[in-house]
Amino acid sequence: MSVNPRPHKESFKRIPIAKPVFSASEEEALLEVLRSGWLVQGPKVNAFEKLFRHFIGAKYALAVTSCTSALHLALAAAGIGPGDEVLVPAFTFIATANVVEYTGARPVFIDIDLETYTIDCTKIRKYLSERPEAQTRPRCIIPVSLFGLCADMEKVNKIASKHGLSVIEDAACGFGARRHGHHAGTEALAGCFSFHPRKAITTGEGGMVVTNDDHLAKTIQALRNHGASKTDFERHLEHGGSLLPEYDKLGYNYRMTDLQGALGVAQMEKAEMILKGRKQAAARYDELLAQVTEIKTPFVPGGYEHGFQSYVCLYQPDGETPKVGRDIDWNKINVWNRTRNRVMTQLEAMGISLRQGTHAVHTLGYYKKKYALQDHDYPMAYLADRLSLALPLYYGITRQEQRTVVEKLKQCLS
Ligand SMILES: Cc1ncc(COP(=O)(O)O)c(C=O)c1O
Repeated sequence: MSVNPRPHKESFKRIPIAKPVFSASEEEALLEVLRSGWLVQGPKVNAFEKLFRHFIGAKYALAVTSCTSALHLALAAAGIGPGDEVLVPAFTFIATANVVEYTGARPVFIDIDLETYTIDCTKIRKYLSERPEAQTRPRCIIPVSLFGLCADMEKVNKIASKHGLSVIEDAACGFGARRHGHHAGTEALAGCFSFHPRKAITTGEGGMVVTNDDHLAKTIQALRNHGASKTDFERHLEHGGSLLPEYDKLGYNYRMTDLQGALGVAQMEKAEMILKGRKQAAARYDELLAQVTEIKTPFVPGGYEHGFQSYVCLYQPDGETPKVGRDIDWNKINVWNRTRNRVMTQLEAMGISLRQGTHAVHTLGYYKKKYALQDHDYPMAYLADRLSLALPLYYGITRQEQRTVVEKLKQCLS
């Protein structure tokens, strides 16, 4: 397939953090939808859902407006609400916790494993066995397949079934990620994906819920469309659509447009190629950074396939990853944090975009204030927030561009 990403004018000299892969097929797909006149949750959305569920290996795939709405719907359909607790990793994008707030439940942060940046199952067990009596009760865990690496779903599921919790996976970054052959999102009650432009395939904004559960799928299908018992497309096919359906649930408008659906179809045709290109680029960084002792490259446990939504490193100038919170010299971490930030600013000035991996959500104003949280409450999440460093990664990044990134990075570090 010939793909010819047309760079933004500026990007001739810049190396951006991410770049979507579009070709004539996306342009044609969009025109086809405009000419068809069917713009919302129609045949293109259906086609995208079908391709996606086959790729992932799930019984249902339901397209929505974003991963945030996907997660919100999955929680709502699982009956999560006021009085419930939902366990979320402390290092993730804020949306993972926000969706819990939307339902009226309480997010409970759990620290991460700094090797994988995913939820630390020993900390989940500790929390569940030591939690004080409270008015809220644990109902659900949201493991996150962060940056394209699955969480340890086997352990998460074991804990969840022991404590009667449901598991909803935040697989926003999980496209192309597998664990012992299972695609991200398929080892939970529901898995939620994002098609934001920083993800491997994009529809601008967009999301998908995958599940094997008939009842959950039916509920989400209704909730994404104001609670309607039938989609507009189904009504149209049956009776020409004259009569409105029944609405017996309080739903939302989280419908995907057919413009996004058509983009999704065109992107799915390139999916294997895009993922292969990203994995090759990640392997090149591994090589180029092998001798750079201050930079810890992403760890991939045996049996896991990293999707490399991002290539996230840890800045650790003394070459060792702290394992236990109490051993951490926070003054030293603050100095390292300032160096990391300076390096990112310097590289940006040279036209190379780096980013902090993501944030420690318990340190963000809303959560910090509402739940009286301290930065060091979740030390590994806080370390990851302070020291993580995402390098530019996209399909089509050249070996030369990657060499430039690493050379300039080394210069700035020294
Ligand atoms: C881990 C995680 N969860 C949720 C989201 C939200 O996805 P969206 O922007 O599609 O709502 C993101 C977005 O980057 C994410 O990284």
